[in-house]
Amino acid sequence: MRFDPWDPDFVAHPYGVYADLREHRPVSFFEPTGQWLVARHADVNALLRDRRLGRSYLHLATHEEFGRPPEPDFQEPFWRVIRAGMLDVEPPVHTRLRRLVSRAFTPRMVESLRPRVRKTAESLVDSFVAKGGGDLIAEVAEPLPVTVIADMLGIPESDRHLLRPWSADICGMYELNPSIEAQHTAVRAAQEFGDYLRERAADPGDDNLIAALAAIDELTMDELVGTCVLLLNAGHEATVNVTGNGWWALFRNPAELARLREDPGLLPTAVEELMRWDTPLQMFERWVLDDIEVGGVAIPKGVEVALLFGSANRDPEVFAEPDRLDVGRADNPHISFGAGIHFCLGAPLARIELIESFGALLRKAPKLELLREPEWTGNYIIRGLRSLEMSV
Ligand code: HEM
Repeated sequence: MRFDPWDPDFVAHPYGVYADLREHRPVSFFEPTGQWLVARHADVNALLRDRRLGRSYLHLATHEEFGRPPEPDFQEPFWRVIRAGMLDVEPPVHTRLRRLVSRAFTPRMVESLRPRVRKTAESLVDSFVAKGGGDLIAEVAEPLPVTVIADMLGIPESDRHLLRPWSADICGMYELNPSIEAQHTAVRAAQEFGDYLRERAADPGDDNLIAALAAIDELTMDELVGTCVLLLNAGHEATVNVTGNGWWALFRNPAELARLREDPGLLPTAVEELMRWDTPLQMFERWVLDDIEVGGVAIPKGVEVALLFGSANRDPEVFAEPDRLDVGRADNPHISFGAGIHFCLGAPLARIELIESFGALLRKAPKLELLREPEWTGNYIIRGLRSLEMSV
């Protein structure tokens, strides 16, 4: 098999291809997207921290000056929202936004959410158990992070069903070479989501993150909207898929599941290991802002590198027996939360959510069984399962 992010077989089983890339072609040109694929942990980690690369080049040059085609006009409403959030900008704007948002998103505030996260996880698992099981993704994995982030932002219950479809449609733009239809869907979702948040920001209520952000004078309305869209998207897309991929990993490794059931004290290392073993975010891209050399290969300014997180996480140079799932793995510098200036702002919250949801399922559903082999959605960049049917 070859690296082919549009081939469902590759998406289902990428790890053999990654091993081959790491060994024989750790930095290789991928014609269909015009990107350089980077497969080794050391290179991925170094490039994420290297300021000669960026998630955007627009702080330095126009599309034309950078030798890129202009974005089609119809995409303007999408980029207006997305580039107002910290993930798609570089310093100095990134530094300013991250500082302002961190002010409202402190570790203390996140830790104070733990009891609420636990209660939500337990009540979702209780309903799941009462029904005799069902689709774990729809019943537990999705609603938990959506509820947590919607609570934080003060989004009323009656509007929450809107969030996941908006977020999924927006994320369609992040797949490789998205279809025109997917692009239009993403633009429409960004516009609707933006309009909705603008309305909420005008009257946010008290004691929620939108109110806290609205109180920061230096944050413009566009930046507030971009930040909330980012928090809502980043705040659940990956967590849903760590839960799904993680349980599927445990079912394929029953001895590790049994070990975890016997010693729930392993939950913190188990969650890190599940994130490493089958990360939901398989690839992140960076623009090369200045000529660089990676593993002896010269990469010129103006192109994109594709950092293969899934591959970096299985690199034998860094992880002993990388293909073995070890829920007690102590030394685990996985790259699933990124590295460098864009390192996941929500990592502490994601860890709380995952520990609470895996913990609640282990406690309350000791006989959880998989009913049938799940299917992948087919998306590569945000890689997850369509459903995970279980009995309890
Ligand atoms: C297991 C779940 C999660 C994973 C695997 C994950 C992963 C990541 C990664 C890899 C990045 C960096 C992307 C890059 O460098 O190009 C990132 C950035 C970010 N994540 Fe997460 N994330 C998760 C959960 C969350 C949650 C729960 C939140 C917030 C509620 C969140 C908020 C953010 C934000 C705001 C950024 C942008 C940071 C910046 O640009 O400075 N993430 N995340």
